[in-house]
Amino acid sequence: MYFDLKPKSERENLFGGEYALNNLSEYLQDDSTRLIIIKGLRRTGKTSLLNVALNELKADSVKIDVRESPYFERKEFFPYLVEQIKQKIEPSFWEKIISKISGVGISYKDLALDFFFSKEENIHLFFQNLNQQLKNKNKILVLAFDEIQLLKAIKFDYFIASAFDNYSQLKFLLTGSEIGVLDKFMGKRDYDSPLYGRAYMEVELNRLKEEETKRFLEEGFRQIGKNISFEEIKEVISQLDGIIGWTTYYGWLRIKSISHEKSLERVKEEGKVLVKRELDLFLNTRQAKSKYIKLLKFLAKGENEWELIKYAFLKEKIKVADSQLGLYLKELSDYGFIEKQTERYLISDPIMLKAIKE
Ligand SMILES: Nc1ncnc2c1ncn2[C@@H]1O[C@H](COP(=O)(O)OP(=O)(O)O)[C@@H](O)[C@H]1O
Ligand SMILES: [Mg+2]
Repeated sequence: MYFDLKPKSERENLFGGEYALNNLSEYLQDDSTRLIIIKGLRRTGKTSLLNVALNELKADSVKIDVRESPYFERKEFFPYLVEQIKQKIEPSFWEKIISKISGVGISYKDLALDFFFSKEENIHLFFQNLNQQLKNKNKILVLAFDEIQLLKAIKFDYFIASAFDNYSQLKFLLTGSEIGVLDKFMGKRDYDSPLYGRAYMEVELNRLKEEETKRFLEEGFRQIGKNISFEEIKEVISQLDGIIGWTTYYGWLRIKSISHEKSLERVKEEGKVLVKRELDLFLNTRQAKSKYIKLLKFLAKGENEWELIKYAFLKEKIKVADSQLGLYLKELSDYGFIEKQTERYLISDPIMLKAIKE
Protein backbone atom coordinates (compact mmCIF):
# COMPACT_ATOMS: atom_id res chain seq x y z
CA MET A 1 0.00 0.00 0.00
CA TYR A 2 1.30 3.42 -0.94
CA PHE A 3 -0.56 5.49 1.66
CA ASP A 4 1.30 4.23 4.69
CA LEU A 5 3.27 6.85 6.57
CA LYS A 6 6.27 4.78 7.50
CA PRO A 7 9.15 4.84 5.04
CA LYS A 8 8.62 1.91 2.73
CA SER A 9 10.80 -1.17 2.77
CA GLU A 10 9.05 -3.49 0.29
CA ARG A 11 9.25 -3.05 -3.44
CA GLU A 12 5.50 -3.46 -3.94
CA ASN A 13 4.80 -0.48 -1.68
CA LEU A 14 7.21 1.76 -3.49
CA PHE A 15 5.67 3.81 -6.24
CA GLY A 16 7.56 4.34 -9.46
CA GLY A 17 10.97 3.74 -7.97
CA GLU A 18 11.98 1.16 -10.57
CA TYR A 19 14.49 3.34 -12.33
CA ALA A 20 16.21 4.64 -9.21
CA LEU A 21 15.94 1.26 -7.51
CA ASN A 22 17.44 -0.61 -10.43
CA ASN A 23 20.31 1.82 -10.65
CA LEU A 24 20.93 1.62 -6.97
CA SER A 25 20.80 -2.18 -6.91
CA GLU A 26 23.22 -2.30 -9.79
CA TYR A 27 25.68 -0.04 -7.98
CA LEU A 28 25.33 -2.10 -4.83
CA GLN A 29 26.17 -5.28 -6.70
CA ASP A 30 29.01 -3.86 -8.72
CA ASP A 31 32.37 -4.67 -7.09
CA SER A 32 34.06 -1.55 -8.33
CA THR A 33 31.48 0.83 -6.84
CA ARG A 34 32.10 1.32 -3.15
CA LEU A 35 30.56 4.67 -2.42
CA ILE A 36 26.99 5.52 -3.38
CA ILE A 37 24.83 8.45 -2.44
CA ILE A 38 21.09 9.08 -2.65
CA LYS A 39 20.25 12.74 -2.99
CA GLY A 40 16.93 14.52 -2.78
CA LEU A 41 15.03 17.16 -0.90
CA ARG A 42 13.20 16.29 2.30
CA ARG A 43 10.27 13.89 1.83
CA THR A 44 11.16 12.79 -1.70
CA GLY A 45 11.54 9.14 -0.65
CA LYS A 46 15.26 8.64 0.06
CA THR A 47 14.82 6.55 3.19
CA SER A 48 12.20 4.42 1.44
CA LEU A 49 14.49 3.80 -1.51
CA LEU A 50 17.40 2.98 0.77
CA ASN A 51 15.30 0.52 2.79
CA VAL A 52 13.98 -1.30 -0.25
CA ALA A 53 17.42 -1.54 -1.83
CA LEU A 54 18.96 -2.95 1.36
CA ASN A 55 16.05 -5.29 1.80
CA GLU A 56 16.60 -6.80 -1.63
CA LEU A 57 20.35 -6.93 -1.33
CA LYS A 58 22.00 -10.32 -0.97
CA ALA A 59 25.04 -8.97 0.85
CA ASP A 60 24.97 -8.11 4.55
CA SER A 61 24.15 -4.57 5.48
CA VAL A 62 23.90 -2.33 8.49
CA LYS A 63 21.73 0.77 8.40
CA ILE A 64 22.32 3.69 10.69
CA ASP A 65 19.67 6.38 10.96
CA VAL A 66 22.04 9.12 12.02
CA ARG A 67 19.25 11.22 13.51
CA GLU A 68 18.64 8.47 16.04
CA SER A 69 22.29 7.92 16.85
CA PRO A 70 24.56 9.81 19.26
CA TYR A 71 25.98 11.92 16.47
CA PHE A 72 27.38 14.76 18.56
CA GLU A 73 30.35 12.87 19.95
CA ARG A 74 32.88 10.71 18.19
CA LYS A 75 33.46 8.81 21.42
CA GLU A 76 29.82 7.86 21.52
CA PHE A 77 29.13 7.40 17.86
CA PHE A 78 31.80 4.80 17.11
CA PRO A 79 30.81 2.41 19.91
CA TYR A 80 27.23 2.79 18.69
CA LEU A 81 28.30 1.92 15.15
CA VAL A 82 30.23 -1.13 16.31
CA GLU A 83 27.24 -2.25 18.37
CA GLN A 84 24.96 -1.98 15.33
CA ILE A 85 27.41 -4.04 13.28
CA LYS A 86 27.62 -6.60 16.08
CA GLN A 87 23.86 -7.02 16.02
CA LYS A 88 23.81 -7.75 12.32
CA ILE A 89 26.62 -10.27 12.03
CA GLU A 90 26.81 -13.89 13.17
CA PRO A 91 27.98 -14.29 16.78
CA SER A 92 30.78 -16.60 15.66
CA PHE A 93 31.92 -14.06 13.12
CA TRP A 94 31.92 -11.38 15.81
CA GLU A 95 33.93 -13.61 18.15
CA LYS A 96 36.54 -14.16 15.45
CA ILE A 97 37.01 -10.44 14.92
CA ILE A 98 37.07 -9.63 18.59
CA SER A 99 39.48 -12.41 19.51
CA LYS A 100 42.04 -10.82 17.23
CA ILE A 101 41.82 -7.50 19.02
CA SER A 102 43.73 -7.79 22.21
CA GLY A 103 43.70 -4.03 22.38
CA VAL A 104 46.52 -2.09 23.91
CA GLY A 105 47.24 -4.00 27.07
CA ILE A 106 43.67 -4.74 28.01
CA SER A 107 41.44 -7.14 26.17
CA TYR A 108 37.95 -6.42 24.97
CA LYS A 109 36.48 -9.05 27.27
CA ASP A 110 37.50 -7.07 30.34
CA LEU A 111 35.67 -3.95 29.31
CA ALA A 112 32.27 -2.79 28.23
CA LEU A 113 31.88 -2.39 24.51
CA ASP A 114 31.27 1.33 24.61
CA PHE A 115 34.33 1.98 26.71
CA PHE A 116 36.59 -0.24 24.62
CA PHE A 117 35.46 1.38 21.38
CA SER A 118 35.71 4.90 22.61
CA LYS A 119 39.43 4.51 21.88
CA GLU A 120 40.39 5.38 18.33
CA GLU A 121 43.09 2.70 18.05
CA ASN A 122 40.60 -0.03 18.97
CA ILE A 123 38.19 1.18 16.36
CA HIS A 124 40.85 0.92 13.71
CA LEU A 125 41.80 -2.54 14.91
CA PHE A 126 38.17 -3.53 14.79
CA PHE A 127 37.64 -2.40 11.20
CA GLN A 128 40.95 -3.90 10.10
CA ASN A 129 39.93 -7.26 11.49
CA LEU A 130 36.39 -6.97 10.25
CA ASN A 131 37.76 -6.34 6.78
CA GLN A 132 40.16 -9.27 7.03
CA GLN A 133 37.45 -11.66 8.15
CA LEU A 134 35.14 -10.47 5.37
CA LYS A 135 37.94 -10.99 2.90
CA ASN A 136 38.53 -14.53 4.14
CA LYS A 137 34.89 -15.26 3.52
CA ASN A 138 34.83 -13.34 0.26
CA LYS A 139 32.03 -11.16 1.58
CA ILE A 140 31.03 -7.53 1.33
CA LEU A 141 29.40 -5.51 4.08
CA VAL A 142 27.31 -2.49 3.17
CA LEU A 143 27.23 0.30 5.72
CA ALA A 144 24.31 2.62 5.07
CA PHE A 145 23.96 6.01 6.76
CA ASP A 146 20.71 7.92 6.51
CA GLU A 147 21.21 11.71 6.82
CA ILE A 148 25.00 11.42 6.84
CA GLN A 149 25.66 15.18 6.77
CA LEU A 150 25.01 15.27 10.52
CA LEU A 151 28.25 13.37 10.99
CA LYS A 152 30.39 16.06 9.42
CA ALA A 153 30.79 17.68 12.85
CA ILE A 154 32.59 14.63 14.21
CA LYS A 155 34.71 14.38 11.06
CA PHE A 156 33.18 11.11 9.96
CA ASP A 157 34.15 11.97 6.39
CA TYR A 158 37.77 11.23 7.40
CA PHE A 159 36.72 7.83 8.59
CA ILE A 160 34.89 7.06 5.34
CA ALA A 161 37.84 8.23 3.27
CA SER A 162 40.22 6.03 5.19
CA ALA A 163 37.84 3.08 5.13
CA PHE A 164 37.38 3.57 1.41
CA ASP A 165 41.14 3.43 0.88
CA ASN A 166 41.96 0.61 3.27
CA TYR A 167 38.99 -1.68 3.75
CA SER A 168 38.17 -3.20 0.42
CA GLN A 169 35.21 -5.26 1.71
CA LEU A 170 33.25 -2.30 2.98
CA LYS A 171 30.80 -0.39 0.87
CA PHE A 172 29.08 2.84 1.85
CA LEU A 173 25.59 3.96 0.98
CA LEU A 174 24.78 7.49 2.10
CA THR A 175 21.75 9.77 1.95
CA GLY A 176 21.17 13.39 2.80
CA SER A 177 18.34 15.89 2.45
CA GLU A 178 20.56 18.93 2.58
CA ILE A 179 22.06 18.58 -0.84
CA GLY A 180 24.67 21.30 -0.64
CA VAL A 181 25.76 20.07 2.76
CA LEU A 182 25.98 16.56 1.39
CA ASP A 183 28.09 17.81 -1.51
CA LYS A 184 30.39 19.43 1.02
CA PHE A 185 30.61 16.18 2.93
CA MET A 186 31.55 14.38 -0.28
CA GLY A 187 34.24 16.97 -0.96
CA LYS A 188 32.76 18.16 -4.23
CA ARG A 189 35.08 20.84 -5.67
CA ASP A 190 37.03 20.99 -2.42
CA TYR A 191 40.61 19.72 -2.68
CA ASP A 192 41.11 19.89 1.07
CA SER A 193 38.20 17.68 1.90
CA PRO A 194 39.06 14.09 2.94
CA LEU A 195 36.64 12.54 0.47
CA TYR A 196 37.74 14.70 -2.45
CA GLY A 197 38.44 12.65 -5.56
CA ARG A 198 36.98 9.38 -4.30
CA ALA A 199 34.81 7.90 -7.03
CA TYR A 200 31.16 7.64 -6.12
CA MET A 201 27.85 7.00 -7.85
CA GLU A 202 24.80 9.09 -7.33
CA VAL A 203 21.07 8.44 -7.42
CA GLU A 204 18.87 11.50 -7.30
CA LEU A 205 15.22 11.65 -6.32
CA ASN A 206 13.08 14.50 -7.56
CA ARG A 207 9.56 15.57 -6.87
CA LEU A 208 6.92 13.82 -8.95
CA LYS A 209 5.82 15.27 -12.24
CA GLU A 210 2.11 16.07 -12.58
CA GLU A 211 1.46 12.91 -14.52
CA GLU A 212 3.27 10.86 -11.89
CA THR A 213 1.34 12.38 -8.99
CA LYS A 214 -1.85 11.57 -10.82
CA ARG A 215 -0.80 7.96 -11.28
CA PHE A 216 0.39 7.71 -7.66
CA LEU A 217 -2.97 8.92 -6.39
CA GLU A 218 -5.03 6.77 -8.75
CA GLU A 219 -3.10 3.62 -7.95
CA GLY A 220 -3.02 4.42 -4.24
CA PHE A 221 -6.79 4.93 -4.15
CA ARG A 222 -7.35 1.74 -6.10
CA GLN A 223 -5.31 -0.12 -3.46
CA ILE A 224 -7.67 1.08 -0.72
CA GLY A 225 -10.78 0.50 -2.78
CA LYS A 226 -11.74 4.16 -3.08
CA ASN A 227 -12.06 6.69 -5.84
CA ILE A 228 -10.53 10.09 -6.30
CA SER A 229 -12.00 12.62 -8.68
CA PHE A 230 -10.17 14.48 -11.40
CA GLU A 231 -10.78 17.78 -9.60
CA GLU A 232 -9.31 16.45 -6.36
CA ILE A 233 -6.23 15.17 -8.15
CA LYS A 234 -5.73 18.57 -9.72
CA GLU A 235 -5.88 20.29 -6.36
CA VAL A 236 -3.45 17.90 -4.74
CA ILE A 237 -1.01 18.45 -7.59
CA SER A 238 -1.23 22.20 -7.40
CA GLN A 239 -1.03 22.43 -3.61
CA LEU A 240 1.45 19.70 -2.71
CA ASP A 241 3.62 20.13 -5.78
CA GLY A 242 4.60 16.52 -6.35
CA ILE A 243 6.26 15.99 -3.00
CA ILE A 244 5.61 12.32 -2.40
CA GLY A 245 5.77 12.60 1.40
CA TRP A 246 2.98 15.20 1.57
CA THR A 247 0.95 13.34 -1.03
CA THR A 248 1.25 10.11 0.93
CA TYR A 249 0.06 11.91 4.03
CA TYR A 250 -2.95 13.24 2.13
CA GLY A 251 -3.79 9.71 0.96
CA TRP A 252 -3.41 8.34 4.49
CA LEU A 253 -5.93 10.87 5.77
CA ARG A 254 -8.36 9.93 3.02
CA ILE A 255 -8.17 6.30 4.21
CA LYS A 256 -9.50 7.56 7.52
CA SER A 257 -12.59 8.81 5.65
CA ILE A 258 -11.62 12.43 6.06
CA SER A 259 -12.95 14.56 3.22
CA HIS A 260 -10.76 15.87 0.42
CA GLU A 261 -10.87 19.48 1.67
CA LYS A 262 -10.19 18.58 5.28
CA SER A 263 -7.36 16.23 4.34
CA LEU A 264 -5.64 18.84 2.24
CA GLU A 265 -6.12 21.37 5.03
CA ARG A 266 -4.62 19.04 7.61
CA VAL A 267 -1.59 18.18 5.49
CA LYS A 268 -0.89 21.87 5.17
CA GLU A 269 -1.52 22.70 8.83
CA GLU A 270 0.49 19.84 10.26
CA GLY A 271 3.12 20.13 7.57
CA LYS A 272 3.58 23.74 8.53
CA VAL A 273 4.50 22.82 12.08
CA LEU A 274 7.06 20.36 10.76
CA VAL A 275 8.72 22.68 8.25
CA LYS A 276 8.79 25.48 10.81
CA ARG A 277 10.72 23.23 13.14
CA GLU A 278 13.18 22.36 10.38
CA LEU A 279 13.64 25.98 9.47
CA ASP A 280 14.07 27.02 13.11
CA LEU A 281 16.78 24.43 13.56
CA PHE A 282 18.64 26.12 10.72
CA LEU A 283 17.88 29.71 11.77
CA ASN A 284 18.62 29.36 15.45
CA THR A 285 22.28 28.74 14.80
CA ARG A 286 22.69 31.81 12.54
CA GLN A 287 23.65 35.23 13.77
CA ALA A 288 21.86 36.88 10.89
CA LYS A 289 18.60 35.11 11.74
CA SER A 290 16.41 38.20 11.29
CA LYS A 291 17.91 38.94 7.87
CA TYR A 292 17.33 35.35 6.81
CA ILE A 293 13.69 35.68 7.82
CA LYS A 294 13.32 38.92 5.88
CA LEU A 295 14.96 37.33 2.88
CA LEU A 296 12.63 34.34 2.98
CA LYS A 297 9.65 36.66 3.20
CA PHE A 298 10.84 38.56 0.13
CA LEU A 299 11.30 35.31 -1.78
CA ALA A 300 7.83 34.16 -0.77
CA LYS A 301 6.39 37.41 -2.14
CA GLY A 302 8.09 36.85 -5.47
CA GLU A 303 10.91 39.33 -4.90
CA ASN A 304 13.21 36.56 -5.88
CA GLU A 305 15.82 37.83 -8.33
CA TRP A 306 19.08 39.35 -7.19
CA GLU A 307 18.21 42.96 -8.02
CA LEU A 308 14.69 42.63 -6.63
CA ILE A 309 16.00 41.25 -3.37
CA LYS A 310 18.57 44.04 -3.08
CA TYR A 311 15.87 46.60 -3.67
CA ALA A 312 13.55 45.00 -1.12
CA PHE A 313 16.23 45.20 1.58
CA LEU A 314 17.01 48.80 0.59
CA LYS A 315 13.35 49.77 0.86
CA GLU A 316 13.25 48.47 4.41
CA LYS A 317 16.51 50.28 5.20
CA ILE A 318 18.34 47.07 6.07
CA LYS A 319 22.00 46.96 5.08
CA VAL A 320 23.09 43.79 3.36
CA ALA A 321 26.36 43.60 1.44
CA ASP A 322 26.47 41.61 -1.79
CA SER A 323 28.81 39.08 -0.23
CA GLN A 324 26.41 38.59 2.68
CA LEU A 325 23.40 38.19 0.46
CA GLY A 326 25.31 35.71 -1.67
CA LEU A 327 26.16 33.72 1.43
CA TYR A 328 22.58 33.70 2.74
CA LEU A 329 21.25 32.45 -0.58
CA LYS A 330 23.93 29.79 -0.80
CA GLU A 331 23.28 28.58 2.74
CA LEU A 332 19.53 28.41 2.18
CA SER A 333 20.00 26.40 -0.96
CA ASP A 334 22.70 24.16 0.56
CA TYR A 335 20.23 23.23 3.26
CA GLY A 336 17.50 22.56 0.71
CA PHE A 337 15.14 25.38 1.63
CA ILE A 338 15.41 27.20 -1.68
CA GLU A 339 16.34 26.27 -5.24
CA LYS A 340 17.78 28.43 -7.95
CA GLN A 341 15.90 28.24 -11.23
CA THR A 342 17.44 30.37 -13.94
CA GLU A 343 17.73 33.77 -12.23
CA ARG A 344 15.10 33.11 -9.59
CA TYR A 345 15.45 31.80 -6.06
CA LEU A 346 12.39 29.75 -5.24
CA ILE A 347 11.21 28.24 -1.98
CA SER A 348 11.37 24.49 -2.60
CA ASP A 349 8.44 23.27 -0.59
CA PRO A 350 4.89 24.57 -1.16
CA ILE A 351 4.05 24.11 2.50
CA MET A 352 7.09 26.03 3.61
CA LEU A 353 6.16 28.75 1.15
CA LYS A 354 2.77 29.04 2.77
CA ALA A 355 4.24 29.00 6.28
CA ILE A 356 6.60 31.84 5.42
CA LYS A 357 3.91 33.92 3.80
CA GLU A 358 1.92 33.82 7.01
N1 LIG B 1 8.16 5.76 -3.84
C1 LIG B 1 7.30 5.86 -2.83
N2 LIG B 1 6.12 5.20 -2.87
C2 LIG B 1 5.23 5.31 -1.87
N3 LIG B 1 5.41 6.09 -0.79
C3 LIG B 1 6.57 6.77 -0.68
C4 LIG B 1 7.56 6.69 -1.70
N4 LIG B 1 8.59 7.49 -1.35
C5 LIG B 1 8.25 8.04 -0.18
N5 LIG B 1 7.05 7.61 0.24
C6 LIG B 1 6.36 8.05 1.47
O1 LIG B 1 6.64 9.45 1.64
C7 LIG B 1 7.04 9.77 2.97
C8 LIG B 1 8.47 10.28 2.99
O2 LIG B 1 9.34 9.26 2.55
P1 LIG B 1 10.83 9.08 3.06
O3 LIG B 1 11.35 7.84 2.44
O4 LIG B 1 10.89 9.17 4.55
O5 LIG B 1 11.51 10.38 2.39
P2 LIG B 1 12.89 11.13 2.73
O6 LIG B 1 13.78 10.11 3.37
O7 LIG B 1 13.40 11.61 1.41
O8 LIG B 1 12.55 12.27 3.64
C9 LIG B 1 6.80 8.50 3.78
O9 LIG B 1 5.51 8.54 4.31
C10 LIG B 1 6.90 7.39 2.73
O10 LIG B 1 6.15 6.26 3.11
MG1 LIG C 1 14.73 10.16 5.18
